[in-house]
Amino acid sequence: MEVQAVIGTNSWGGRAYGKAVRGSYVEDSMIRKAMREAGKQGLTVYDLARDYGLGKAQKMFGEFAEEIGGDDLIISAKYTPFTHYKKNCVRRSLEKDLADFRRSYVDIYWLHLPTDIEQHLAEIIGLYNEGKIRNIGISNFDLAECRLAKQILDTAGIPLYGVQNHYSLISREWEQNGLLKWCRENGVSFWAWAVLEEGMLTDPRVKTKFSLMKFFLNRQKRKMHKLYSVMIAVADRHHISVPQVAEAYCACKGIVPICGCRKPKQVAELAEAVRIRLTPEEIRRLEAAADCSGAKVLGHDLFRFAVLKKRN
Ligand SMILES: NC(=O)c1ccc[n+]([C@@H]2O[C@H](COP(=O)([O-])OP(=O)(O)OC[C@H]3O[C@@H](n4cnc5c(N)ncnc54)[C@H](OP(=O)(O)O)[C@@H]3O)[C@@H](O)[C@H]2O)c1
Repeated sequence: MEVQAVIGTNSWGGRAYGKAVRGSYVEDSMIRKAMREAGKQGLTVYDLARDYGLGKAQKMFGEFAEEIGGDDLIISAKYTPFTHYKKNCVRRSLEKDLADFRRSYVDIYWLHLPTDIEQHLAEIIGLYNEGKIRNIGISNFDLAECRLAKQILDTAGIPLYGVQNHYSLISREWEQNGLLKWCRENGVSFWAWAVLEEGMLTDPRVKTKFSLMKFFLNRQKRKMHKLYSVMIAVADRHHISVPQVAEAYCACKGIVPICGCRKPKQVAELAEAVRIRLTPEEIRRLEAAADCSGAKVLGHDLFRFAVLKKRN
């Protein structure tokens, strides 16, 4: 399955959640318009999970997709193992997801965290064999965990579709520690979440409303003046926006960007960005500015606290 870009739905949801966490609430009607625009732009893949938008995103997707006749939309969903493996836990979760999506299958199903990998994957394989899951992926896995997952799937004769991990201009550890190379060598797709770093890699000249998220990120933004000036120069050269530079950067690396889009303009920008070809010199300058900024966001460590230790 050839995927160029993915619409993330973590920021979809209710008024209180939007205002407190995201800084603004976007009306459902705007999200419906964004989905229609995505259709026009040929963006058909949506990344979902049970907890997104405090549990609202999946239901919104199911309802809106039905309204716009989106039977052909591609659903990327997840099982999040917040507890140790319990028999049928994945099946029960997937059944609820399918009710939300108003579908009988998901296109890609990710094991969201590397907890009890063998047991969770065994159940996911069973659901794949029943046709409820069309492709299997893993998320927030390190290289050793990816190798183990692939070995389990190989034994079952099923390809590992992809790895979905945190990656952006300022969070490139998977490039440095060999995971990206391993994905390329093994024909495994790499999807990057938080390509815009929750709004940090957008235009600093555009004023946004206060939110808890922005409050925590502001200290890092102060370190990024040089990076912003390079991003603005690259954006001006290609007649695109600053966030499009961050999105195009990923696409040029052969990585699939997942971007939290809630508005038609953001969807249209994402579709355009993944067609932009940055030059090797532009990529070099962006990376040099990102590296010397010293900006640090929690990368692959972000969810390690939620990965449960192996039981003896
Ligand atoms: N697998 C995992 O563990 C995992 C973890 C986290 C996230 N994810 C996935 O990754 C997705 C992306 O993460 P995210 O939504 O948290 O953050 P994000 O995509 O890094 O950033 C979203 C922010 O960027 C802004 N934005 C988006 N497009 C823009 C554009 N063209 N111009 C200007 N601003 C733009 C949004 O603005 P507005 O405020 O105006 O909407 C929002 O503030 C999630 O939705 C989810 O699907 C996966």
